[in-house]
Amino acid sequence: MSAKLWAGRFSKPTDASVEQYNASITFDNTMVYEDILGSHAHAAMLAKCGIITAAENEQLQQGLQQISKKVTEGKITFQIADEDIHMNIERMLHESIGDVAGKLHTARSRNDQVALDIHLYLRKQIVEIVELLTQLQNTLLTMAKEHRHVILPGYTHLQRAQPIYLAQHWLAYVAMLQRDSTRLQEIWLRVNQSPLGACALTGTTFTTDRHYVAEQLGFDGIYLNTLDAVSDRDFIIEFLASSAITMMHLSRLSEELILWSSQEFNFITLDDAFCTGSSIMPQKKNPDVPELARGKTGRVYGALFTLLTLLKGLPLAYNKDLQEDKEPLFDTIKTLRDTLAIYIPLLATLKVNSANMRAAVNDGYLNATVLAEYLVRCGATFRVAHEVVGKMVAHCVAKKCRLEDLSLTEMQKFYPAISEEVRQVLSIENTVAACDVKNHLSVVDTDLAQREQQVQKDEAWLAAKQGLLVAVYTKFGLAK
Ligand code: ARG
Repeated sequence: MSAKLWAGRFSKPTDASVEQYNASITFDNTMVYEDILGSHAHAAMLAKCGIITAAENEQLQQGLQQISKKVTEGKITFQIADEDIHMNIERMLHESIGDVAGKLHTARSRNDQVALDIHLYLRKQIVEIVELLTQLQNTLLTMAKEHRHVILPGYTHLQRAQPIYLAQHWLAYVAMLQRDSTRLQEIWLRVNQSPLGACALTGTTFTTDRHYVAEQLGFDGIYLNTLDAVSDRDFIIEFLASSAITMMHLSRLSEELILWSSQEFNFITLDDAFCTGSSIMPQKKNPDVPELARGKTGRVYGALFTLLTLLKGLPLAYNKDLQEDKEPLFDTIKTLRDTLAIYIPLLATLKVNSANMRAAVNDGYLNATVLAEYLVRCGATFRVAHEVVGKMVAHCVAKKCRLEDLSLTEMQKFYPAISEEVRQVLSIENTVAACDVKNHLSVVDTDLAQREQQVQKDEAWLAAKQGLLVAVYTKFGLAK
């Protein structure tokens, strides 16, 4: 068992069970590059402020670079006895450059170090998630263009309501994903703040330059209040809340894909490559991916509640409870990324059975609302029109026919002012076009154009942030 870096005041070695229980290295090694990156910037600041010499800084920089190289080559082993990523790296640095490694932790605590690592790690993940969201939106935009004229029933209460264009249905999901992307870009502002220099809770007697570290790392600013810097996990909660919303959106889409690919609907066919079979029923082709996406939404909600509960009774400043912030965060990042990534090809390869969609519009009296609105134009109040059309529908249900199958004379028995014009009113194409505004397709086109413009804005944001990250990581010899 190696001696602990904090062993000075202890007279006994740590019990093996405590070592296991206490260690976070099995999961916080995810942030290995961010831990090294933060140390590069911290050492540079110590030298700039005259707290270590330029030569010592040079040794630390080179030592850290050797470690990141070894990490990339898979040549390092983390030790449970070293507790966490911070002390594992420090131990390795000591092995590689000797006692000067002991200077790195001057004017720093693991409390501000771990907060820094999470800020660095999460901002990188946000960029990659915004990229996935953008790709998924582009997929849906392509589908909306491709299916611009496809008509299907729109539903309320999962009952056929009024006909809609399939393009509008896909664009509704683009709208949701755009809010998700914008939300993440707003959260980035709070993630991209540096807590480093807060030390354990109240700074240090050394004259450090917290702004210099922040600049080196591409942060927009620093946490002014040092207690807040080490205690704050709001930025994680915001990210988890945002992830929960995105997963909820994907889960709603999943539910629709599952329904639509059932034999009862048969509106879409998922590609064979994105479905799985049954071990007993040879005929089965199951939509496992959307089912899993729907199911995995639960663990992301769980992560949000874990963090909210973790923080609710926690006194300032750092408490070890905070170590429990990482696994839910990492699990959420993986779940969200995996789900977004798999949905891009899953959607791009699905086949739309437009004839079945169109046929479904013929049954279910989807033109009843436009007929009622037509009666209003013939002079009825809307309440009267609603009542009259309701009776006409009941009559048709009994006769097992559609509204458009009634003769003009039959219709006039319900409302005498109905004229031949009603034929045009009742046609399904007219029903879609008449809905909402005069020319519904042009609304779809306007929506499409605006969504495309927003994706371009998101892509510009992405390019700027990707450029920033590449600059910061490569400055210290790290691959992004
Ligand atoms: N592994 C710890 C965590 O994840 C790092 C901070 C430890 N700080 C301390 N004072 N023990 O929170």
